[in-house]
Amino acid sequence: MDIRLISSGDEAACNDFHNRLYRHHRTMSQWRWEFADNTYGQTPIPFAFAKVDDKIVGTQAFIPIRMIDRDGVYWTAKSEATLVDPDYRGQRLFEKMYELLFRYAEEHEFSYVWGFTPAIKAFTRLEFTVPGVTQQLFMPFSSRSVTAMLGKLPRDRPGGARDRIKAATLRAGITAARMASAVSIALTSRKLPSGLEIRTMQEPDAQAGNCCKRFIEQWGGTTIYRDSNYLRWRLFENPYVKSVVRAIYEGDELLGWTAYTLGDDGLGYLVDMLISCDESRYKPSSLIRILLLEAVLGTRNMGATGIRGWRVNQHPFDRLVCREARKVGFYHIKRGHSVVLYNCPAQRVRAGYGKFDDWYISRIYTEGVLS
Ligand SMILES: CC(C)(COP(=O)(O)OP(=O)(O)OC[C@H]1O[C@@H](n2cnc3c(N)ncnc32)[C@H](O)[C@@H]1OP(=O)(O)O)[C@@H](O)C(=O)NCCC(=O)NCCS
Repeated sequence: MDIRLISSGDEAACNDFHNRLYRHHRTMSQWRWEFADNTYGQTPIPFAFAKVDDKIVGTQAFIPIRMIDRDGVYWTAKSEATLVDPDYRGQRLFEKMYELLFRYAEEHEFSYVWGFTPAIKAFTRLEFTVPGVTQQLFMPFSSRSVTAMLGKLPRDRPGGARDRIKAATLRAGITAARMASAVSIALTSRKLPSGLEIRTMQEPDAQAGNCCKRFIEQWGGTTIYRDSNYLRWRLFENPYVKSVVRAIYEGDELLGWTAYTLGDDGLGYLVDMLISCDESRYKPSSLIRILLLEAVLGTRNMGATGIRGWRVNQHPFDRLVCREARKVGFYHIKRGHSVVLYNCPAQRVRAGYGKFDDWYISRIYTEGVLS
């Protein structure tokens, strides 16, 4: 058994392993974008694999992501590519691959390792905590969105009675929900307050990083540091789906943005939302509402059957987005993926650690493919 970090020449075999087990068709350029050509730019890349003879039997990787809190910008890692061949499960391969990556995290001064997973047992054995579960914001545009949405929600027991009842309830409620959402949208004023302008970001705006800093000053906690490099990699150069980024400006000053896209399941995705307006005369709630409507109408015009976003915890901005989303006709569905979080012991404990409500999380945290 050979367990090590990837080096040049191993990439295609690791990607083939993923495609074989998941029956996906991930291309090498998609693999490279996610694991090698991200914003980290250091080698070796944090991608571990296990090999028996010439066969890959396990992978585990990190996508390094910078985050920001009131003390500054710092590196973390998103856990990704967690997979062991069913014939080799229960043999501590996951743990052994993680040993290499924990060492990497220490050497490269990552503060946290985090991710979203149904396999919480495997992660808690490695001293990850499970500080929360993602929840959904959902607005149906047509009844077809229900089937797509149900297929996305984690299930307790696939096809079980609870799921069938839930599906029936959702289907029965959907027409009323759709009408209610349409009425809410119609009633919500789309007139922009004077002095504001909404533009499509064609290129990552150089003000993005500063906007993110001001966001943390205004709202507190911690979030992904979305500077222009990050936005370029994550949204503009994403080889899976490109997002539309609609940004709100006061004069030439960037106050925030929303990013949305159409998934290949026909659903619209509210990928991101960020507002910093402490020094402006506009109320955050009205800016959020403006951007939510941009995402709703934008995805509807793209042909989406509905739109979904995340609602995760009690971070003040997350709470406000949820409140405004409900006002324009979104539904809040309390079901999603478990969050796993590991505090790298060698690193200084950051102010927010242990308080998951300090993390502002949107769907942009999925990092790779939309899920
Ligand atoms: C997660 C994984 C790498 C762990 O491998 P491992 O260390 O060899 O451990 P095991 O496969 O024995 O799993 C450990 C425990 O986690 C549970 N588990 C693993 N994957 C799970 C999943 N997708 N959902 C729920 N539980 C899961 C197992 O049932 C097992 O529980 P048990 O000890 O009560 O039997 C491996 O199970 C795997 O490849 N799973 C499928 C891929 C996956 O779910 N990846 C996570 C997506 S982020």
